[in-house]
Amino acid sequence: MGGASRIVRVIYAPGAMIRYSDPPILLRDVFEDVGEVVGLLERNAPYTPLGGWYRPGVDLDTPTSPMWFQNDWVHADLRVAGSELFLFHERVTQAARDFYDAEVIVPHSVYVNMMAALERSGPAHTDNPRFHGRDRSNTPMWLLRTMLWSGLFDRYTIVQATSIWWMNDVEGGGLLYWPDGPDKPPHEHVGEMANTALVGDNHGMFHQVGPVGPFDQGTRLVTPRAELAPAGDGSGEWAVTDRGEVRYRAPLERYRVSVLWKADVYPDEAEQQRQMADPLSIPDVARIFDRDLEEKRADVRLDLDRLEDPGLIAAVNAVYPEAIPVGKAPSIFDPA
Ligand SMILES: [Fe+2]
Repeated sequence: MGGASRIVRVIYAPGAMIRYSDPPILLRDVFEDVGEVVGLLERNAPYTPLGGWYRPGVDLDTPTSPMWFQNDWVHADLRVAGSELFLFHERVTQAARDFYDAEVIVPHSVYVNMMAALERSGPAHTDNPRFHGRDRSNTPMWLLRTMLWSGLFDRYTIVQATSIWWMNDVEGGGLLYWPDGPDKPPHEHVGEMANTALVGDNHGMFHQVGPVGPFDQGTRLVTPRAELAPAGDGSGEWAVTDRGEVRYRAPLERYRVSVLWKADVYPDEAEQQRQMADPLSIPDVARIFDRDLEEKRADVRLDLDRLEDPGLIAAVNAVYPEAIPVGKAPSIFDPA
């Protein structure tokens, strides 16, 4: 067993060390009975618009949100009834073992995306990282991402596998992904996506959701208060209700439905114990950054009293820029 780091290749870019992974594993016919998933979707309605750390300060009464709805089924403090269907899926778990050549797979998150009428793509991105001792509960997201892109904290990274499962085929709705790294053109998973899953490393590999139909009225916007749920009138349709009014309705199969699964990955139990016994403190983070910044002869230091200061954030990010993947499509969240 070569361990979780075996397949990670490392390339160098100006100012940053970028990591990327092998191509994801494609699974077909993931569920024998997709109807079980439909039941789970119905029982856990309603779904609410995607928030996210890259959309701070949105106004609750202004229609600025695309119809990209989300709901958590499993996270640290939550496990909805029936979510075991995804959480402990045997083939998905085995694919994660195979992808990482790892023995220990600890599934921890399941969440759902439901989308309709997005004329442009989602953002091209890598998923937010976690480190032993450092995650979004105790560390600003920009700092976690800069820790990732700096390459300075690899030994503390919690390696995570991701599975994306698609329920159905819709107009558009493909996935661009960059298995050869951000400087090579993307691949696309599109067409015949129903009941398939891609299992791989979405934390090390850029990916981007493509536009989702219907395209007849462009991107339809709702407020952050909008909800998506079964219409409940026997029609089998699902409806988007925003501040008391139905803004959109369509049969479930016309919404792009995907379910994401995430698991921590360890080569074996001994390595899991070793990593978990070695958490990073915030002073550790500052010390590691400052040593590197000094070596790079950069003027900025990671001043722990100024972690919310936009000037500090910009200066640190300038030293450790994120890659921009070639061939990415315009995003609904790009500035107008
Ligand atoms: Fe993602």
